[in-house]
Amino acid sequence: MTYETIQTATDGAVTIITLNRPKALNALSSAVLDELIEAFAAYQADDSQRCAVLTGSGDKAFAAGADIKEMAEKSAAEFYAADFFSKWTSHLVEATRKPWIAAVNGFALGGGCELAMMADFIVASENARFGQPEIKLGVAPGMGGSQRLTRAIGKAKAMEMCLTGRMMDAGEAERSGLVARVVPHDELMNSALKTAKTVAGMPPLAAMVNKEMVDAAYETTLSQGVLHERRLFQILTATEDKAEGMAAFIEKRDGVWKGR
Ligand code: HXC
Repeated sequence: MTYETIQTATDGAVTIITLNRPKALNALSSAVLDELIEAFAAYQADDSQRCAVLTGSGDKAFAAGADIKEMAEKSAAEFYAADFFSKWTSHLVEATRKPWIAAVNGFALGGGCELAMMADFIVASENARFGQPEIKLGVAPGMGGSQRLTRAIGKAKAMEMCLTGRMMDAGEAERSGLVARVVPHDELMNSALKTAKTVAGMPPLAAMVNKEMVDAAYETTLSQGVLHERRLFQILTATEDKAEGMAAFIEKRDGVWKGR
């Protein structure tokens, strides 16, 4: 598949998706949105692919936000009628049941920060900068930023970031729990790919279930979440991969996964 605003590639069982508008700091235009949705759907549908990495092209940005030049032209009626940005959640978060990682290589601002936070986790380069600067444009986050950022780093820092529009550097983002790991800039893709290959080497149903369980913690009470976890655990015990995984442990060998 050929895209205009993104690039896709595979490395074994890992799909690599790269935002590719470096001159506009990978700003998220409608074309990027449509192509990302296609690329994520293709990843989800391809049984040979077991983990994905999303990153930005160029040295400077993961994504500097929704495309301001495009948004400047749109009326409120158009934003509302198109339910602007709702597709990100339905496609990238809900329909992508397989794991994916954001490898943040520079600015992740506004919609760029929100997109990174849709990933299962973020690996960041030392150059990464996170922020929700929408207030400076007379607006506010619109792709989940006020909600996901608050859940990730707590009210005090999230509120401060949204109200001041300040950026958070990679070190602060790691200390605050926004990113899983910070690595030297030049090692970002190697490191993200290594982690993605580890995930891709896991039993695929168990990977989806682990993802679903952790995500459920955002949506439910503790007792409902723990019940949901227990039921999903019990369902996994019916899989061939469970039998294989436990046999492999006992026989001191690596498991060979069937995804069923
Ligand atoms: C469109 C953008 C852009 C954006 C940068 N560019 N960000 N174009 N949309 N979000 C373009 C610039 O216009 C410029 O192109 C080129 O990329 C390089 O950017 P510079 O500003 O010249 O680079 P620099 O001086 O290094 O500053 C980098 C920056 C700054 C600090 C990241 O670009 C910046 O503040 N960008 C906007 C960040 C932002 O406000 N994001 C939130 C957007 S709102 P030209 O052709 O002019 O040289 C949002 C809402 C989401 O995301 C939810 C909505 C529902």
